[in-house]
Amino acid sequence: MHLTITKAEKLKPQPDDSKLGFGSIFTDHMFNMDYNPEKGWHNPRIEPYAPIEMDPATMVLHYGQAIFEGLKAFRTESGDIYLFRPRDNFKRLNRSAHALCIPELDEDFLLDALKQLLVMEKNWIPKAPETSLYIRPTVIAMDPFLGVRASHTYRFFIILSPVGAYYPEGFNPVKIWVTKKHVRAVRGGLGEAKTPGNYAASLYAGEEAHKHGYTQVLWLDGVYQQYVEEVGSMNIFFVIDDELVTPMLNGSILPGITRDSVIALAKMWDLKVTEREISIDEVIDTHSSGKLQEIFGSGTAAVISPVGELKYGDRVITINDGRVGPMANKFFKVITDIQYGRAEDTMGWIELV
Ligand SMILES: Cc1ncc(COP(=O)(O)O)c(C=O)c1O
Repeated sequence: MHLTITKAEKLKPQPDDSKLGFGSIFTDHMFNMDYNPEKGWHNPRIEPYAPIEMDPATMVLHYGQAIFEGLKAFRTESGDIYLFRPRDNFKRLNRSAHALCIPELDEDFLLDALKQLLVMEKNWIPKAPETSLYIRPTVIAMDPFLGVRASHTYRFFIILSPVGAYYPEGFNPVKIWVTKKHVRAVRGGLGEAKTPGNYAASLYAGEEAHKHGYTQVLWLDGVYQQYVEEVGSMNIFFVIDDELVTPMLNGSILPGITRDSVIALAKMWDLKVTEREISIDEVIDTHSSGKLQEIFGSGTAAVISPVGELKYGDRVITINDGRVGPMANKFFKVITDIQYGRAEDTMGWIELV
C-alpha cells in the first residue's frame, strides 16, 4: 500500500515543554486509512490534523463499535526517538479488533506508518525531563446506519499529543476506593479489549471515588465481586511476603504491556512472581497479618502508580505507611530508564524511529 502525504500549510504554535499536561494538545498531522469490504484497508495517508466529518447516524456514535491503543514516543538525551514495545500495542489492537468484529490490520504496516508520522512530527516530541509524545491509534465504525450489527466500513487513525511528566511533584502514592456496587467488565464481556464502552462503564464509580476523596477505583470481578481485577485504568500488583502477585488474565482484565514488562523484569531478577486470583479479603487479611508490603498499579501513562491507602467498606488500610515502596520504585526507575535511553535495553523492548 502506498502512503500519501499532504503537509499542513500552516503549523501550530508549539507549547512550552515544561508546562505540558495530558491529552489536550495535538500535533500538526495525523494518519488516516479507510476500510470497505471491496478494497479492504486502503488509502493510507498522512494529512493535516483535522476533524472527522460524519453522518449523525454513523454507527460508532450509537453502538460504540470502536477500539484504540495508547503508547508513547520518547526523546533520548542523544536525540534518538524511542518507541516502547509498539508491536505489542498493534497486536493488542488486533485482539481488540477481533473482539469487536472489526477487520484485522497489518501490524507491520501500522508500525511503519507510525514511524513515518513520527518522523514528520519529530519537533513535537518534547525535550523536558520525563515528557513524551502520547500516541493514540483508533478504529471507528463508519456506516451511517441505525440497527445493531457490525459496520461494513471503518476509519483507522493515529493522533499524537505531547504530554508532561506524570509525576511533576514527585512519585506519590494514591488513595484507592474499592466498590462492590459497580463493575467495569464481566466474564464473557469486553474487559480484555481496549474499547470505549469499558471506560464509559468506569465513569460513575470513578466520580463516586472522587467525591469521597479517592483518586482511583479498585475494580473487583463482575461475577463474585470478590477478586481484584484492575485499579483505575491500570493493572495491579501486590507485594506479599516478598512475592509479587498480580491477578491472572481472565478475559475481563486488559493485558497491559507495562504489566507484562513488570512480570518479565521480576522473572529476570529471580523474584517470585505469581499470576493468580487474589480476593479483596485476602488483601485485607495479608495487611492485618503484616505481610502486605506494597500495592502498585502499572500502565503506559504513569508507568507505576504506588498505592498508599485503600478503602473497602468501613475499612481503611494504609500500605507501607503511605510511602512509595522499594519494588514500585525499582520498576519505575528501570522501565523509565530503558524508555529514555538512560539504561541499556537488554529486553529488546525499544524500537528506534
Ligand atoms: C483498563 C486498562 N487496564 C490496564 C492498562 C495498562 O495497559 P498498558 O500497560 O498497556 O498501558 C490500561 C492502559 O492502557 C487500561 O486502559
